[in-house]
Amino acid sequence: MRSSCVLLTALVALAAYYVYIPLPSSMSEPWKLMLLDATFRSTQQVSNLIHYLGLSHHLLALNFIIVSFDKKSAGSSAQVKVKDTDFDGVEVRVFEGSPKPEEPLRRSVVYIHGGGWALASAKIRYYDELCAKMAEELNAVIVSIEYRLVPKAYFPEQVHDVVRATKYFLQPEVLQKYSVDPGRIGISGDSAGGNLAAALAQQFSQDANLRNKLKLQALIYPVLQALDFNTPSYQQNVNTPILPRHVMVKYWVYYLKGSSEFVQAMIANNHTSLDVEEAAALRARLNWTSLLPASITKNYKPVVQTAGNTRIVQEIPQLLDARSAPLIADQEVLQHLPKTYIMTCEHDVLRDDGIMYAKRLEQAGVEVTLDHFEDGFHGCMIFTHWPITFSVGIRTRNSYIKWLDQNL
Ligand SMILES: *[C@@H]1O[C@H](CO)[C@@H](O)[C@H](O)[C@H]1NC(C)=O
Ligand SMILES: *[C@@H]1O[C@H](CO)[C@@H](O)[C@H](O)[C@H]1NC(C)=O
Repeated sequence: MRSSCVLLTALVALAAYYVYIPLPSSMSEPWKLMLLDATFRSTQQVSNLIHYLGLSHHLLALNFIIVSFDKKSAGSSAQVKVKDTDFDGVEVRVFEGSPKPEEPLRRSVVYIHGGGWALASAKIRYYDELCAKMAEELNAVIVSIEYRLVPKAYFPEQVHDVVRATKYFLQPEVLQKYSVDPGRIGISGDSAGGNLAAALAQQFSQDANLRNKLKLQALIYPVLQALDFNTPSYQQNVNTPILPRHVMVKYWVYYLKGSSEFVQAMIANNHTSLDVEEAAALRARLNWTSLLPASITKNYKPVVQTAGNTRIVQEIPQLLDARSAPLIADQEVLQHLPKTYIMTCEHDVLRDDGIMYAKRLEQAGVEVTLDHFEDGFHGCMIFTHWPITFSVGIRTRNSYIKWLDQNL
């Protein structure tokens, strides 16, 4: 009896140690977030073990676990018709809200889910419920793209997939089939999906035939650059769940099919040190000492290495490609972009990617709404349903849908 008590106490202490991470009190419901993070970390560790045992690639294993637990088949409700189909060979899940009585043609959003270019699916409950909610509240058609993921496909295949599906959808006969108003279509996505949405919008803005086809872009805590992993938000949130800095850098390396041996050097900004000539011109485009307000930069200091590792950008030149890092695009590309919404969260390494992009777009003459959540954390907008509900999840989602409703 005594020994089992001791064992139990030890187990509880161990579990508490595993779950507990110090979090700022300004964060929405920190204990819930710790539990969510512990679940995510343990799933990652199981996947790493599966990888180590040679049973499967760790990303395939991790995604298999995520999708198996949460996959939802296409189920229509009285308000929203849901159907899985494909657009020019790319799988999509289409959500059709009912048209407003006075407007036979509906609005539409092409949505790209997040997950580090490697995880999640348009078919998991979180994204299915988000898109169904958007379709219902906006009386819109939402096209959620099931693009291919790492390690089955690498950059730029994900960009190609979302571009192919969107171009197919924009054809007049397809829009007509779905009763969509061609003048009221937006592109949107969260996290890595926000990265792909931004890359797609830039690609369309450079093509005279496609330039005016998108009315707006809405980017939810997007990933936008891989040149500086020491922005104030990367420094401030270095260990913040559910996306600590080393995890974000790893997902970049996976996406660009680089070598994981570079991760530590990239965290130190050694890939963009002053002796890396290829990065010199681009460094100025994400000079956060001038792009970010003093309320954000606080006392954080830029991390600029004099000498670093010149091999990294030679082996991974995609790091300097605006299709992977939309924040470094030319001003001439930015100026043709449509009206933009960017959501950022205080407790997120990616906060400053979003704020800097908003600033560069404004400088290029684009109308931008920056929607910042002081108690938000990376990924919060999809956590709106039992058993993982965050008040900031519901507030971010409402704010996003409201902006779409007023601007689309
Ligand atoms: C960064 O580069 C410098 C100079 O080559 C080297 O001394 C340092 O160890 C590197 N840091 C990392 C983390 O790789
Ligand atoms: C960044 O901006 C600051 C302030 O405007 C300026 O002093 C600095 O030279 C800039 N750095 C680069 C690399 O452009």
